[in-house]
Amino acid sequence: MRKTILGNNGPEVSAIGLGCMGLSFGYGPAADKKNAIELIRGSYEMGVNFFDTAEAYGPFTNEELLGEALAPFRDNVVIATKFGFQDGVASKGVDSRPERIKRVAEESLRRLRTDRIDLFYQHRVDPKIPIEEVAGAVKDLIAQGKVKHFGLSEAGAQTIRRAHKVQPVTALQSEYSLWWREPEKEIIPILEELGIGLVAFSPLGKGFLTGAIDADTQFDKSDFRNIVPRFQKENREANKTLIDTVRAFAEKKNATPAQIALAWVIAQKPWIVPIPGTTKLHRLKENVGAAEMELSTADLNEINDAFDRIEVIGDRYPEALSHMRLVFPNSPISTVSSKNIQH
Ligand SMILES: NC(=O)c1ccc[n+]([C@@H]2O[C@H](COP(=O)([O-])OP(=O)(O)OC[C@H]3O[C@@H](n4cnc5c(N)ncnc54)[C@H](OP(=O)(O)O)[C@@H]3O)[C@@H](O)[C@H]2O)c1
Repeated sequence: MRKTILGNNGPEVSAIGLGCMGLSFGYGPAADKKNAIELIRGSYEMGVNFFDTAEAYGPFTNEELLGEALAPFRDNVVIATKFGFQDGVASKGVDSRPERIKRVAEESLRRLRTDRIDLFYQHRVDPKIPIEEVAGAVKDLIAQGKVKHFGLSEAGAQTIRRAHKVQPVTALQSEYSLWWREPEKEIIPILEELGIGLVAFSPLGKGFLTGAIDADTQFDKSDFRNIVPRFQKENREANKTLIDTVRAFAEKKNATPAQIALAWVIAQKPWIVPIPGTTKLHRLKENVGAAEMELSTADLNEINDAFDRIEVIGDRYPEALSHMRLVFPNSPISTVSSKNIQH
C-alpha cells in the first residue's frame, strides 16, 4: 500500500491505518479474540502498518490484543496509543497529570509488549493541566526512548500551538469525514502551517457513511451509537440523503460507499490518514481498496457540491459527554454517568 509521512518528522505510515477500538469496545460486545487477531494480522498482510488503540479501549484489553497480534512483526509497524482519562476510564473524565501520563506509558508498554510507543496521544485536553506540562511529560518520555512521537486528539487551535512549542506535535487525531468537516475551518490550516499530520478518526461516520445502517438498524444495547444524537432513529432517517448521495457517486465510480468516504478523506491532503475500524475481514479488504482509488478534482467538486446542499442532523456526541467534543482551554469538565462511551 502507498505510504505517507505523518507530520514533518513523523513515522512512515500506510495511507490507511486500522482503528482497533471497535474490536474491544464501543460498538457492542468485543470481537472474539482469535478473529480479532486474525483481522489485525490480515490487515498487516494487506499492507496496513499503522494501528490505533488507547488505554481506554476496553479499558486496557484493546492494547493487550494489539500487543499479542502485532508481536510477530512489531518492528515493521507503527503503534499509536493514548492517555488522558481518569484510571483509563473515559466516563470518569479527563486526567493528564504528568505523573499519571508517565504511569500510563509504562503500563501501555507492558500491555503492548514493546519497549517504545511510536505515537502517544493525549486523548482529550485536560483543562486543569496546562498543555505545556503535558507536552513536557511526553518530552521526558521521548528523551528516555519510551515514546517516539507526541500526538493530541480533538485539541483546539491554541492548544496545538502551545503544545507544539514545548514538544513538536507529530499528529493530531480528530474526527474528520464527509459528515464532519469542522476541522477544515481552523484546524487543518494550523496543521499545515506547523507541519503536523492529521489522523482522521471515524472516517466512515461510525459506519453510517457506508450505507450499512438505516433507520431500522438495531444496535446492541452496549453500542455507543444508542446515545449519539446523530444516530437517533429519526436522525438516521433524516440523514439518509447523505447515503443516497454517496451511493449514487460510488456506483458511477464502480466502488462502494465506504471506499468513496475513505478516498475522499485521503484526497484532501497527502498528510491526512484515515483509520477506519471494522471487525470483519471482507470489509477490511474493501476499505483498504480505497487507498488505490484516485478521485479527480472534478470528482471532489461533485461530492462536495452535493454534500454542501445537505444539512447533517444531530450532534456527534451527546450532551452528557461534552468533554468528548473539541476541548478548548478553560472549557468545563463534565461529569458523565454513561458507561457506553466511545472515544
Ligand atoms: N481519538 C478519539 O477520540 C477517537 C474516537 C473514535 C474513534 N477513534 C479511533 O478511530 C477508529 C475508527 O473510528 P470508528 O470505529 O469510530 O468509526 P468508523 O471507522 O467511521 O466506522 C466503524 C464502523 O463502521 C463499520 N464498517 C467498517 N467498514 C465498513 C464497511 N466497509 N461497510 C460497512 N460497514 C463498515 C464497522 O462495523 P463492523 O465492525 O461491523 O464492520 C463499525 O461499526 C477507532 O477504531 C478508534 O481507533 C478515536
